[in-house]
Amino acid sequence: MTAIVLGIESSCDETGVGLVRITDGAPELLGQSLASSQDQHARFGGVVPEIASRAHLEAMTATVRAAFADAGVDPRDVDAVAVTCGPGLAGALLVGVAAAKAYAAAWGVPLFGVNHLAGHVAADTLEHGLLPKPTLALLVSGGHTQLLRVDDLAGAIIEVGTTVDDAAGEAYDKVARLLGLGYPGGPIIDRLAARGDPAAVRFPRGLTGPRDAPYDFSFSGLKTAVARHVETLERAGAPIPVADVCASFQEAVADVLTAKTVRAAADLGIGTVVIAGGVAANGRVRVLAEERCAAAGLTLRVPRPGLCTDNGAMIAAMGAHVVVAGRAPSGEFLTGNPGLPVSVVHVP
Ligand code: KG4
Ligand code: ZN
Repeated sequence: MTAIVLGIESSCDETGVGLVRITDGAPELLGQSLASSQDQHARFGGVVPEIASRAHLEAMTATVRAAFADAGVDPRDVDAVAVTCGPGLAGALLVGVAAAKAYAAAWGVPLFGVNHLAGHVAADTLEHGLLPKPTLALLVSGGHTQLLRVDDLAGAIIEVGTTVDDAAGEAYDKVARLLGLGYPGGPIIDRLAARGDPAAVRFPRGLTGPRDAPYDFSFSGLKTAVARHVETLERAGAPIPVADVCASFQEAVADVLTAKTVRAAADLGIGTVVIAGGVAANGRVRVLAEERCAAAGLTLRVPRPGLCTDNGAMIAAMGAHVVVAGRAPSGEFLTGNPGLPVSVVHVP
């Protein structure tokens, strides 16, 4: 079987369109295009949903055209359209779903509504091939921080652990905001941290006590600890060592994420770990995960940074897995579901 799948992503502030070809094995990326409204949100310190929705609307057709040009593919070659139908911002999802329905109807091909979180994991299959069954996925994005047992990307994903408060990416964005660094905070802190001392401040590691849930995460105490540290320095009239604070904060995040992931893999007897989502682009998370997985005898897979943050290729890849698995297409009443759980990988 050979099929070409177009994927549309619009759950947050990136309008992404990707084209993949699937044969019997792993999906292959043919081309993609990305438009971002991040600059328009920067002065608010976070995504403004109305601005994001409007930006998706304005960028959609040009981004689709650019993806075709990048892939060297003609719309007549497309066999299926996949679209993020959740989780995400309601208005933003609606733009992608409406566009996907229109393209699928115009080209006379089936439409598949897929889960954004599963899509992040699927992105890795574009680079490293099909996932072994089972695989343990650490999904770290702006809205989610989860440990997932992935038995079948197109069917069975089970949540093993999750954050009880902030997501890892959210902590990056909030800490960047309180340091006055701009949005999105992850890449800025990642860059500054490279020049700082990760041992300068010992920030707390949430939920790592002997009685705490071993696979759950908490980042809100860490965020507060950074805020208190900065306030104390400010009150004393001392300069803020921004690079050291960034490096110490990042060390706390990377330490907890990788320690819990390795422990879960060992406890569950799973030999392969995938890290996916925007925070998987983080330099320190990648290095520490590599060290700890190697020490524990685990195989680690992390997509290249451009495939970690939101993009259309990951949704095309997810669509391809769903098509190959023979799942039913979505009906004409498909709509965006802001709270779609990760266990619902595809919405018929
Ligand atoms: O997966 P993603 O692009 O969108 C969501 O689904 O949320 O993740 C975005 C999040 C943001 O919070 C951003 O600050 C964070 O990922 N992020 C990073 C890095 N690049 C993006 N966090 C840490 N280090 C990075 N290099
Ligand atoms: Zn995402």
